[in-house]
Order: sequence, then structure tokens, then C-alpha cells
Amino acid sequence: MEKETKWAPVLLCWYASHGRQLPWRTAVRDPYKVWVSEIMLQQTKVEAVRPYYESWMDRFPTMEALASASEDDVLRQWQGLGYYSRARNLHTAVQEVEASYGGVVPKNRKDIVKLKGVGDYTAGAILSIAYGEDEAAVDGNVLRVFARLYGIEENILSGPVKKHITALVTDQLPHGQAGPFNEALMDFGATVCIPKSPRCGECPLAGDCTAHQEGKEKTIPLRLTKKNVPTEDITVAIVSYGPYWLIHRRPARGLLASMWEFPNASGCGEEGKRAVTAYLASQGVTISLGDTPVTTLKHVFSHKIWQMTVYEAWAGSKTLIEKEDWQWLRRDAYTTVPWAGPHGKLTALSE
Ligand code: ADE
Repeated sequence: MEKETKWAPVLLCWYASHGRQLPWRTAVRDPYKVWVSEIMLQQTKVEAVRPYYESWMDRFPTMEALASASEDDVLRQWQGLGYYSRARNLHTAVQEVEASYGGVVPKNRKDIVKLKGVGDYTAGAILSIAYGEDEAAVDGNVLRVFARLYGIEENILSGPVKKHITALVTDQLPHGQAGPFNEALMDFGATVCIPKSPRCGECPLAGDCTAHQEGKEKTIPLRLTKKNVPTEDITVAIVSYGPYWLIHRRPARGLLASMWEFPNASGCGEEGKRAVTAYLASQGVTISLGDTPVTTLKHVFSHKIWQMTVYEAWAGSKTLIEKEDWQWLRRDAYTTVPWAGPHGKLTALSE
């Protein structure tokens, strides 16, 4: 059965009339030229690349010419583009293609990613654009476009989120036209679905775009690097009454929706202890907390980190609250509820 490529027809049509004329987009696509352009375009804008690309091709029109050049010559040609390891790696990798692959850029992902400086994105770009292979090429632009189309609010820089988006893009590749599709996405991301103020008024996909429909086009995508993922301190109380634990069901929307957790409150140290005690009092349960934590646990989500400090606690009575979102659960039945991520690990603590 033909798969449904929902976005491809519109993007290809948009590309036919709005795609950019760029010097490496020649009628017959040469893998070497695609490769050079992709390496130059890493961390560098198209307009800055144009003159470098043209003078590079004058000086090194073929892989043989580049392979036999001196490193000094190569670096002189790159002078001013920055990130010089790109030029050194390209030079080494082209020599490798000459020496080990008979001067032909490998046509499969397994071999092409072994070349120095060729990562997943560049591999996908060369294979799809030059060789017509059905391969995705997911860079920051594509992550942004797809995060908006699908309303993905998680951190697009996290590994699992990138993987998820790559699977969505792969699913949308139009068979035999992955190259134009990938280039359409590049141009679309660079000119319409731009980072700060996307031009939704001109966007042919706006009617189907989740972020646009929900007014979230400026908050999606979320981009958090390791340095700026916020940490939330949480104090957790494992509250016992005889053979029972007191557990709470998280809200139906949001993080770990509808899953069960041990009662907890923001904060750490004495402040955290007071907060979780007060929270439970507000639910009608009086507890006494252990003096010292039984454990601490760090849990990394794509967009935040929970730093959890965990105490044992005892309820004065089995009051409460058998409301929908609270229950006294027999400890020996702990496998009967879906636990909210790291809370599941805590069940091993005080059996
Ligand atoms: N950015 C990265 N690769 C590109 C390409 N091939 N065309 C336009 N912009 C790009």
C-alpha cells in the first residue's frame, strides 16, 4: 500500500515555485558538490557560503583535485568561513573516498557515515539529493518545522525527541523524491517557518499546523541545551499506614499524565519537608516524616530535571479521601497501577 505522505505534495509544490536558486543545485546532482555545499552550510548562512562555494569549485572542481591538494591550500580556500576542522575533515574524507572507494562517494548510509565529518544529517542530504535514496536529512530547520506541524512541545535538542521527529520525517518522505522534499524543507525552514516570527500568513501548511492552530508557533520549538535544562527540587513522602501506601494520580494533562506518584511538593531540605507535610494536611492527612531522606533520585526529562529527595512518612490514621485521584494502595499490589516515571523506582525502597 502507498503510504500517506501528508506534507510532501504541498511542500513539493511550494518548492517548485519558491525554492531558491543556489549554485550547488545543478541539473545533474554531483555527490561531491552536494557534500561540499552541505559541509559549508553547517553553522553558516547560505549567502555567506555562495562565494566560497563558487571559488572552491573553481579551485577544486573534482574530488581528485581536492584529494591531491595540500592542507595549506585547502585551508586557504576555507579562510574566513570558520570552523576549520570542517575543511580538514572534508579533505581527509575525500582522500579516503579516492583511496578506498574508487573515487565514488559511497551510496549507502553505513559507509558514508564512516567518512570523517559526515554525520547523520549530511549522510541523509547526500544520499537523497545526489543519489535519490529515500533518506531523511534532519537538521535544526527540519526539527523546528516538524515540531510545529505536530505540536511537539518537548525539547527538540533531546536525543529521544530528535529520534521521534526523524521517524516522522522518514514516514513522510515521498518515494523517489526525498531529495527535493529535503531541500524543500530546508528552504521552507529558512524562509517561511523561521525561528522567531514565522510567516504563517504565507504558509501553505498553516491550516494543518498544530502549533499555528493552538497559537504556539512562537513557543515551539523548545530548544534547551544541557546547560539550560532547569532543575526542579522535589520532596517526596512515601506515606505508610500499616500495609498501605498513600498514592496520588497526576492530572490528566501534562507531564506523566494520569499516572500514579507518591505525594510530593516543590522544594528541598526543611522547606521541602514543610511543603509536603502542608500539602498532605490540605488533603486531610496528617503525617510525620522521617528525619533523614531514605534516598535521592535525579530524573532527566527532555525539558527539565527532577532532583528528588525522598522521605519515609507515617500517617496518623487512614483518613482520606478515597477520591478518584488518591488511594491507599496495598504495598503488595504496587504493580497494579501505572507509576509516573521515577516514582516506580521508589516502590523498591520500603517494601
Ligand atoms: N542548509 C543546509 N543545507 C542546505 C541546502 N542544501 N540548501 C539550502 N540550505 C541548506
